[in-house]
Amino acid sequence: MQLQEKVIIVTGAGQGIGESGAIEFAAHGAAIGCVDLTEEKAQKTARNITEAGGKAVGIAADVTDFAAIEKAVQVTVDAFGPLSGAFNCAGYIGDTAHIVECSEENWQRVISINLTGVFLTMRAQMPAMAADGGSIVNVASGAGLVGVSGRPAYVASKHGVVGLTRAGALEGAGNNIRVNAICPGSVRTPMHEAVTLKDPDLEAQWAAAHPLGRIAEPLEIGQCARWLLSDEASFITGAVLPVDGGYTAQ
Ligand SMILES: NC(=O)c1ccc[n+]([C@@H]2O[C@H](COP(=O)([O-])OP(=O)(O)OC[C@H]3O[C@@H](n4cnc5c(N)ncnc54)[C@H](O)[C@@H]3O)[C@@H](O)[C@H]2O)c1
Repeated sequence: MQLQEKVIIVTGAGQGIGESGAIEFAAHGAAIGCVDLTEEKAQKTARNITEAGGKAVGIAADVTDFAAIEKAVQVTVDAFGPLSGAFNCAGYIGDTAHIVECSEENWQRVISINLTGVFLTMRAQMPAMAADGGSIVNVASGAGLVGVSGRPAYVASKHGVVGLTRAGALEGAGNNIRVNAICPGSVRTPMHEAVTLKDPDLEAQWAAAHPLGRIAEPLEIGQCARWLLSDEASFITGAVLPVDGGYTAQ
């Protein structure tokens, strides 16, 4: 039980990487605050965890709303005790459009959820970890390390998460708060499927673009996060870890 006694908040816990991570952390002993946009999504994952014998509470909150996220942290702490970890997964891919076609509305929405949302969640989480330390794992992307054509806002937001992670690592170190980022390659989730359903050829193209010759399953991201959230990663902070089947090694 790698995460016994840990209290971990997961944003974007309703589906995909966040859902899979929340279930994985709970299976390793952590109590989970499952945060997603709607009550239904947040409660669904919390219910799956509790029905399997784990500890979880579902909380509806928008990561772009600081008051809502602060409350979500408080609800988690009230339910299970001091916050020891966070897996910040909530994200939005936005429209496919080159810079010259990208609307300001799309730009603002993507930046607001993916970058400002991570800033606001860290701003709510770090004070809750200040007394005893903790571990924050932000989900950036391979698009936080290299450019991708046709998704300028997404690429900029994820590069921003990488920078924010490094800044957070320096600022949290005095309170033993470790802050790291995972940069996944393509992962089979509803976000991924929303894109591949429109263009079935993409699935094979993306698989071929990863040297391991396939895309990832959500659990492969959650397993890496589980380790970063555990005490086994006690001297790791400010790290930006590709979990991408070799995509950014090319
Ligand atoms: N799937 C991939 O291939 C891939 C690759 C690299 C990085 N990522 C990143 O991983 C994270 C999770 O991606 P996923 O594929 O599981 O996505 P997903 O769309 O399947 O799930 C994202 C979850 O976040 C929630 N969410 C969206 N906006 C929110 C908000 N404002 N407040 C609270 N919750 C919100 C959604 O409701 C959803 O449940 C994202 O940050 C994404 O950018 C995904």
